[in-house]
Amino acid sequence: MAATLPSKPIRVPLTKWTFSMNPGPFNLKEHVLITIFANCGAGGVYAVYIITIVKAFYKRKLNPLAAMLLAQTTQLLGYGWAGLFRKYLVDSPFMWWPANLVQVSLFRALHEKEKRPKGGLTRLQFFFMVFASSFAYYVVPGYLFPTLSALSFVCWIWKNSVTAQQIGAGLNGLGIGSFGLDWSTVASFLGSPLASPVFAIINVLAGFILNLYVLVPIAYWTNTYEAKRFPIFSSHTFDSTGQPYNISRILNEATFDLDHDAFNSYSKLYLSPFFAFNYGLSFATLTATISHVALFDGSDIWQMWKRTTSAARDKFADVHTRLMKKHYEAVPQWWFHIILVATVALSIYACEGFDKQLQLPWWGILLACAIALFFTLPIGIIQATTNQAYLHQFPSGFFRGNSLR
Ligand SMILES: *[C@@H]1O[C@H](CO)[C@@H](O)[C@H](O)[C@H]1NC(C)=O
Repeated sequence: MAATLPSKPIRVPLTKWTFSMNPGPFNLKEHVLITIFANCGAGGVYAVYIITIVKAFYKRKLNPLAAMLLAQTTQLLGYGWAGLFRKYLVDSPFMWWPANLVQVSLFRALHEKEKRPKGGLTRLQFFFMVFASSFAYYVVPGYLFPTLSALSFVCWIWKNSVTAQQIGAGLNGLGIGSFGLDWSTVASFLGSPLASPVFAIINVLAGFILNLYVLVPIAYWTNTYEAKRFPIFSSHTFDSTGQPYNISRILNEATFDLDHDAFNSYSKLYLSPFFAFNYGLSFATLTATISHVALFDGSDIWQMWKRTTSAARDKFADVHTRLMKKHYEAVPQWWFHIILVATVALSIYACEGFDKQLQLPWWGILLACAIALFFTLPIGIIQATTNQAYLHQFPSGFFRGNSLR
């Protein structure tokens, strides 16, 4: 567009404003902005699970507008929160958001002019080389030969032993002695190892080993809570006999709600030992987030709080922030407040209108917002310093072939 469109200035009638059709060269800032837009939906919209479960699994009607409002408001709410915590999570020099450094180096490789060193490659050429080869390779484990992502030697040797399959299976067991030739499987316990600091990787690895190779086997082979009745490693729900839980039996079809009498006469809900530990530990990590942040970052947060409320406001910003402040005006805080108020209002409308199809009362939304408000800062601090996001509890391959109900 910069090469072909006319750059002749066009005057807006009756004003002194002019503009031109030519946007100028495509620059890094535009590219980053487009990436931010795209990322808003590219990571998957969590609320879409609710919609697909209601429609495909329970085969119930859902008003399309209610469904759209649900997806939009749950996504947008975060932008309001982000503004509330900007001082602590963005402006603070302690919050360095490791994943963004990977992005920054990619953008710089794509946009900065660079002279090719003799006998070497520019960063852009290197990027495209790695991009093409990783794409070409991933066709093999991702499509042609999925077995490559878990070569389970233990299972091949002891073909008929159930215990060997439980211990050695890479896809449905503990995966001991199982070998992966697929980067996304190998690194899936952690997200991207390139963007996480070493202490965080070691921490995650230690927790992973403790959970999967100590806690789960002990619980399973001591038959705690009848654990042996269920698969050691599964995301399904089971009844007391070990069969898949039959949800239609406890569902009140008319109200789309739990039928307590049917539930009491059928069975409690059981989970596999691995899944039960994952649920339990998810709640434990949530509260651990609070104590971790209080102990490790508490005094920094307190200092920042004191400074933001005192006269020496901009003193604590790092050099980069101060330079940026000189050239660019910050987005006003009330923009975020407007987004927040508007999305909360729309969420309440989505839940209270539409014959209450979404089933969440208005106070439930406010309670959810209050919980989120309480946890955003600690979870944000952990993600900004270790690249560990609370939501990504399960390895990405874990639900492959399993349905999460
Ligand atoms: C589940 O329960 C419903 C209602 O009792 C029954 O019709 C259905 O056959 C059951 N499904 C299975 C898989 O047992």
